[in-house]
Amino acid sequence: MKGILLCGGSGTRLLPLTRVTNKHLLPVGNKPMVFYPLEKMKEAGINDILVITGTEHLGDIVSLLGSGSDYGVSFTYKVQDKPLGIAHAVSLGNRFIGNDDFVVILGDNIFEFDMKKLIDKFKSVGRSLIVLRKSKNPNRFGVARIVNNELEEIVEKPGEDISDFIVTGVYFYKPEIFKYFPRLTLSARGEYEISDLHNYLIKDKKLDYSIEESFWSDAGTLETYFEVNRKYGKL
Ligand code: G1P
Repeated sequence: MKGILLCGGSGTRLLPLTRVTNKHLLPVGNKPMVFYPLEKMKEAGINDILVITGTEHLGDIVSLLGSGSDYGVSFTYKVQDKPLGIAHAVSLGNRFIGNDDFVVILGDNIFEFDMKKLIDKFKSVGRSLIVLRKSKNPNRFGVARIVNNELEEIVEKPGEDISDFIVTGVYFYKPEIFKYFPRLTLSARGEYEISDLHNYLIKDKKLDYSIEESFWSDAGTLETYFEVNRKYGKL
């Protein structure tokens, strides 16, 4: 299996911290944010990793990560010219992934899910799999509507309460997903939404889910950035 580590976006919710640097390079505890999802990739046994980032801080990302030899992995880099969203970034991985199964992790997601267990589940269900988690503040995420244990729909940042189960930024995909990208259109926030891809997969019964209970947070807002620093800010 291969991996895609997403380090794009403009980090506007963390301004001014992100004025001169990439969000994923900011410190969380004693290391850069991106080390946390990278360690999860390694835990999953994934060593062949595509890093996708924007043009502005590509040099700093490469300076930090290098070839990957310091971390026991191999990095390939791809540039996302404009912050056009997670689905757009993943679509850029088409040639790198080829016919392999793969994991995508958002570079600002910090979590303690058991990756080996999730990979086993992904392999046993035989279709793409997203990881859900209960949240007290679901409406700022992608939210999963589940009926009779079946995924019905993902609603991106719903205006009304739908469920407490949010879609985390940890995705296990079959290479078949690449054929869906041409169907996506720009959302109101000017991005190609990963939730739109998931809804196409749901319609074709090609998406499964796992509900996890261990710690998960994104670090993309000042509030959550400080939360993860409180949790991991010990030497
Ligand atoms: C993105 C996704 C959302 C997901 C979240 C997880 O949101 O669009 O579905 O729940 O990551 O971190 P964003 O951070 O772009 O607002």
